[in-house]
Amino acid sequence: MITRRGFLRLVGGSFLSMVSLSAYAIGIEPMLLTHVKRYALTPPHWPAGLKLRVVALADIHACRPWMTPERIASLAAEANALQPDLIVLLGDYTAGTRLVTGWVRVAEWAEALSGLEAPLGVFSILGNHDWWTDIRAQRAEAGPTQSRQALEHVGIPVLENDVVRLEKDGQGFWIAGLADQLALLPNKAKARHGFQGFDDLDGTLAKVANSEPIILLAHEPDIFTKVPWRVSLTLSGHTHGGQVRLFGYSPVVPSAYGNRFAYGHVVENDRNLIVSGGLGFSIMPVRFGVRPEILQIDLG
Ligand SMILES: [Fe+2]
Repeated sequence: MITRRGFLRLVGGSFLSMVSLSAYAIGIEPMLLTHVKRYALTPPHWPAGLKLRVVALADIHACRPWMTPERIASLAAEANALQPDLIVLLGDYTAGTRLVTGWVRVAEWAEALSGLEAPLGVFSILGNHDWWTDIRAQRAEAGPTQSRQALEHVGIPVLENDVVRLEKDGQGFWIAGLADQLALLPNKAKARHGFQGFDDLDGTLAKVANSEPIILLAHEPDIFTKVPWRVSLTLSGHTHGGQVRLFGYSPVVPSAYGNRFAYGHVVENDRNLIVSGGLGFSIMPVRFGVRPEILQIDLG
């Protein structure tokens, strides 16, 4: 039997540990514990001799106090310090939650990202929140979104069903960027009962003019079930690793496939996908067991 004092101590103790756990999940893990997540792989049919370091930033979700322009600028400096050949941005620049103390304007986060530098360039795709927070684009059911315009304004190309050919040490390869798969919100007035995407995987890959390797950028990982073997590596974000992840399991994942594409390096049928746990968060300002991460991927 538990004594009254023991009961109070237990309740008090769990209350205190609840408070410190929430402080950790709301304050410390989201804000302070950013780390570099490193992968090194030689994907199938990757040309011998093409050594490539790709650094990726996903799901920035700019907002105050969590992801200020100052913090984004310092993340950009951290990314540059990894000396990548190429930097890619995997979408969701705008706020993903209303639990904020202030908004960050599109021009502000874009300006903070303009400090990114890599010899082969910086390339981006858009995420669902870049569409969802853009009232004009929702109404028009078409881009260009404010996010696209802001990125282009600071000189960062945005690939929406588009490709770019790059070269390193005389070896060519392609970056293909998919348009967002959940761009338009459901809208009863327009008889749209689910989300509508603008992604065109076949059309995008059809723009690749030769047999050189392809790296595909796709904000939501769910497209991976349709990605052909021809693509050497797919990079995604969107899931935030579920934001809460314990023992390699995420209870809540915004994916039709649950934990299958929630986080990390997935290999299926000789095809490679890397899902970043991202940097910010959506819905709730919480992260637990999925520290904010900058991806560094060494290919070759
Ligand atoms: Fe997303």
